[in-house]
Amino acid sequence: MKVCVVGCGAVARRMHIPVFQSIPHVEVVSVVDSYEQLAKGVSKEFGISKYYTDYKRALNETDVDIVSVCTPSFTHADIITYAAKLGKHIIAEKPLTIDLEEGKKVLETVKANGVQLGVVFNYRSVDVAQKMHETLKQRKLGRIVSMIGVAHTPCPSSWTNGRWLYHEGGALDDFGPHLIDMLLWSNPSTLESVSAQGGDFTGYFNFISHIQVSMKFKDTSLALADISWLNDAFLFNLDVYGTSGRIACDVRGGRYYTTYGQVSSPLTDMNRTFKDSTKLMASIVSGKYFKGGVTYHFRNISEFISAVRTGGRPPVTGDEALMVTAVSAAAKQSFKTHKTIYMDELI
Ligand SMILES: NC(=O)c1ccc[n+]([C@@H]2O[C@H](COP(=O)([O-])OP(=O)(O)OC[C@H]3O[C@@H](n4cnc5c(N)ncnc54)[C@H](O)[C@@H]3O)[C@@H](O)[C@H]2O)c1
Repeated sequence: MKVCVVGCGAVARRMHIPVFQSIPHVEVVSVVDSYEQLAKGVSKEFGISKYYTDYKRALNETDVDIVSVCTPSFTHADIITYAAKLGKHIIAEKPLTIDLEEGKKVLETVKANGVQLGVVFNYRSVDVAQKMHETLKQRKLGRIVSMIGVAHTPCPSSWTNGRWLYHEGGALDDFGPHLIDMLLWSNPSTLESVSAQGGDFTGYFNFISHIQVSMKFKDTSLALADISWLNDAFLFNLDVYGTSGRIACDVRGGRYYTTYGQVSSPLTDMNRTFKDSTKLMASIVSGKYFKGGVTYHFRNISEFISAVRTGGRPPVTGDEALMVTAVSAAAKQSFKTHKTIYMDELI
């Protein structure tokens, strides 16, 4: 399976290229970056024979099966569309697109050309997220009543030198899509409406630095996504409350508590704390703690490769990713108009 990686920035160098190179029978044959020095440097660093500054040239000149899209989010639509029309399978970084109408057109093109599209929502692959999803799927909590998610990261200036994130969407389009995806993935009901409050609370940024997105599902369950760049922590937590139990999931820290059909006692809490500390210590000692992100990209990307090989379902489909873009679009519309946005008017 031959891969071309488009965009040689942070996520390509730290995740996509090393992950592709670790999967048997997968080869990265070309890399592209509009900044030539970077494309050249990355091709040398990873031993990739060809580098380009123009993805169209790269895709026409190299024989590739899969295109990995690791460019700034506002460029995804053009690159995915171009690759799909050439009959290439595509794995794109989240979010699918920032603009909802662009996202819809992208999916139409992908479907019309019969290629596979996977979108990297890698936090779904975290062990505790998988565990939570399984518990919810088995309806162990009864019917979901409420979900509260927190996605707080510092401004991503330590992650990438790129300035492209500092546009209108800010935090909502940066780490926000991961939390929105997690909430939609966890709730089997259909999303009915979205309302949001937020904006730039610093007074000097021209983009969303903090937003709360409130979602109502058709079965009356509610979800709240609190997304911020203003807290210097790195939090990704999700609490789910059902009619017969609850889950507290610390997705980033790998901690997970669930209570259903039993009463928690001080002894249970002590046991849990002990087990958590032991697990944390083991992951620090083994080094797993420090490369957690790569592990999750590995699962997501290798499942996508299997889907391409077998014609199966990618781990996160284009339609699921489009819903995340739709929620972000609804949130932006809602906080500007102070109105509730109904999803069937958008999608
Ligand atoms: N899944 C995750 O956890 C995760 C983490 C970080 C970033 N991302 C996503 O990955 C994507 C890239 O983010 P990043 O942090 O690597 O950004 P970055 O700014 O570090 O890298 C982007 C690179 O793309 C290049 N580029 C821009 N336009 C191009 C074009 N038309 N053709 C070729 N190259 C082009 C830039 O020169 C830059 O080197 C974004 O969509 C982001 O949302 C996902």
